[in-house]
Amino acid sequence: MNHDRQAATYDRNVADESHPIRAGYAACLDWVASHVAPGDRVLDLGSGTGNLGLRLPPCRLTCVDVSHEMTRIARAKLARPAEWVQADLLSYLDEPRGPFDAVVSTYAIHHLPDREKEILFGRIRAALAPAGRAVLGDLMFEDRAARERLLAKHAGDPSVADAIREEFFWDLASAVPALERLGFAVETRRFSDLSWGVVGE
Ligand SMILES: C[S@@+](CC[C@H](N)C(=O)[O-])C[C@H]1O[C@@H](n2cnc3c(N)ncnc32)[C@H](O)[C@@H]1O
Repeated sequence: MNHDRQAATYDRNVADESHPIRAGYAACLDWVASHVAPGDRVLDLGSGTGNLGLRLPPCRLTCVDVSHEMTRIARAKLARPAEWVQADLLSYLDEPRGPFDAVVSTYAIHHLPDREKEILFGRIRAALAPAGRAVLGDLMFEDRAARERLLAKHAGDPSVADAIREEFFWDLASAVPALERLGFAVETRRFSDLSWGVVGE
């Protein structure tokens, strides 16, 4: 989903973590960034306004995002060398890329239906160096039952309930086995009701 229309207000919105969708945002990005070492070759998928890039140590960074406006803001904020690619992230990885020491992404992959997530995981695996890692922070549920519980909890707030219904928050009960089938050893970490991190090495 192209975020051109949200770009101007995005950073102000994510700074307000009182909203359930944004709770845990900063902790999630900090955790993802903590898995990147100085000098790594890093691919940031759905790089947005560059908030994850800002947290990374000096590294060889490639940022992919379909939104021209989000990327325009990110380039100004980051003000350091990086490769900027305006493209669909799944299509970008449809060609041989990398190798990368880390493929990172925050709050972007939930825009892909589960079937496309699984295709993406395979493409991430192919773009990683042998000791590389995928570090992915996003809106997720432990399983289908947790989705139903959280949908009920937020039924009175359309800004949460509609997002749960209309977007593709991860179901960890299927995403973790999909990553494991590709050979990843997976660990998860929770930052709020909806914000989780997944690292696959
Ligand atoms: C919610 S923002 C997250 C931005 C940033 N990673 C962060 O954590 O703040 C989602 C970003 O992913 C981008 N995006 C969504 N679907 C995409 C796709 N299929 N290909 C490339 N970029 C995509 C949007 O344009 C947007 O910039």
